[in-house]
Amino acid sequence: MRRVYMDANATTPLLPEVMEAMRPYWLEHFGNASSIHLHGQRARTAVDQARETLAEFFNCHPAEVVFNSGGTEGDNTAVFGLLHPGDHFITTSIEHSAVLQAANRMAQYGVETTLVAPRPTGLIDPTDILRAIRPQTRLISVMLANNETGVLQPVEQIGKIAADTGVFFHIDAVQGAGKVSLDVRGIGCHLLSISAHKMHGPKGVGAMFVRRGTPVEPLLVGGSHERRQRAGTENVAGIVGLGKAAELAMHSLADGTMERLAALRDRLEAEILRLPATGVNGALIIDGHPERLRTERGGVEGPAVAAVAFSNSNSVPRAANTSNIWFDNLEGEALVIALDLKGVAVSGGSACHSGATEPSHVLMAMGLDKSRARSSLRFSLLKTATDADVDHVLQVVPEAVEHLRAMATVAAGTLG
Ligand SMILES: Cc1ncc(COP(=O)(O)O)c(C=O)c1O
Repeated sequence: MRRVYMDANATTPLLPEVMEAMRPYWLEHFGNASSIHLHGQRARTAVDQARETLAEFFNCHPAEVVFNSGGTEGDNTAVFGLLHPGDHFITTSIEHSAVLQAANRMAQYGVETTLVAPRPTGLIDPTDILRAIRPQTRLISVMLANNETGVLQPVEQIGKIAADTGVFFHIDAVQGAGKVSLDVRGIGCHLLSISAHKMHGPKGVGAMFVRRGTPVEPLLVGGSHERRQRAGTENVAGIVGLGKAAELAMHSLADGTMERLAALRDRLEAEILRLPATGVNGALIIDGHPERLRTERGGVEGPAVAAVAFSNSNSVPRAANTSNIWFDNLEGEALVIALDLKGVAVSGGSACHSGATEPSHVLMAMGLDKSRARSSLRFSLLKTATDADVDHVLQVVPEAVEHLRAMATVAAGTLG
């Protein structure tokens, strides 16, 4: 059976070049980067080279790059490393749990958090951030691209607000890195977190931009690694893999890969939206009728889709690879399973917390009702996706949707 993986926002495979770059650092060049002999020097040189690449990727100085274990550590470091009792923290209700749970923990230590809600489009309005600022506000944390909808947040404008008000600004760029260019200088943020496994690098390694002079306390203490900002023997092979992945990502951002990917995503989306009672979460997009644009009205009863004429400039900016679609009258989880049986891997609009399936906090924050959030699916394309992948998905989705909806109707009749 043909298998198509459309869950790139969950994780991505290593690109072969990344695997090849890493291989010697597990086998011959296995040294500890802190050792002074040749083995150690080789490892140190490799880490330094990766640091240079990451500095280019972020647009910062190499001394402002800190390697760590990934996105969760970066997000936790920003929250735990900057906030003190009595401080006020601003973040959004659509952040990853690595930020939200860290904020929850800080509540025990007397840090109050304001969660700014998105608009129904999935966009955070920078004026809502500005309005939330108080004299005690020390940190703002906003994601670059949302992991569920792909919606790109206005981080430049938020960076300006942070600069004008003297508040530290962290960006969770885990889902944005490799999909849009990063420019920490241009944005004016103090901290930014990325994770290698979301951009064709290895799992368990990531990096953080820490602007020089930002008083962030390390999460881990011990040795003097990473300029005393992150203790622990460096994951040399992982860091080399992240460096290679960042180098390849910079090429992809410049060579039209993202435009090609957006075109594939748009075709997939437009074709799926031909099915009745479907719509996109987090975007105004062109549907099967080129002269019309559809807009999501989460939670509103009545016609499933409001067809409204908008100019293209009204579209919400999104990462090129992501599409989040609701399919009324079915359970998203059942559709995920049905598609998996047909060889298509996607994610649903709900998450399992302590054994109970809860609708996605992101979609709920955007104003969807529970059943529509539960009926939503995320398609996230790898940058290596092909037309044939999209064709296969388009072949199996309508069939699976019709089948599940027919079963739901039969079940409702039996029960009713
Ligand atoms: C937006 C976002 N932030 C943080 C993380 C956590 O990253 P990691 O898996 O590297 O810990 C993820 C992973 O899904 C994510 O999507």
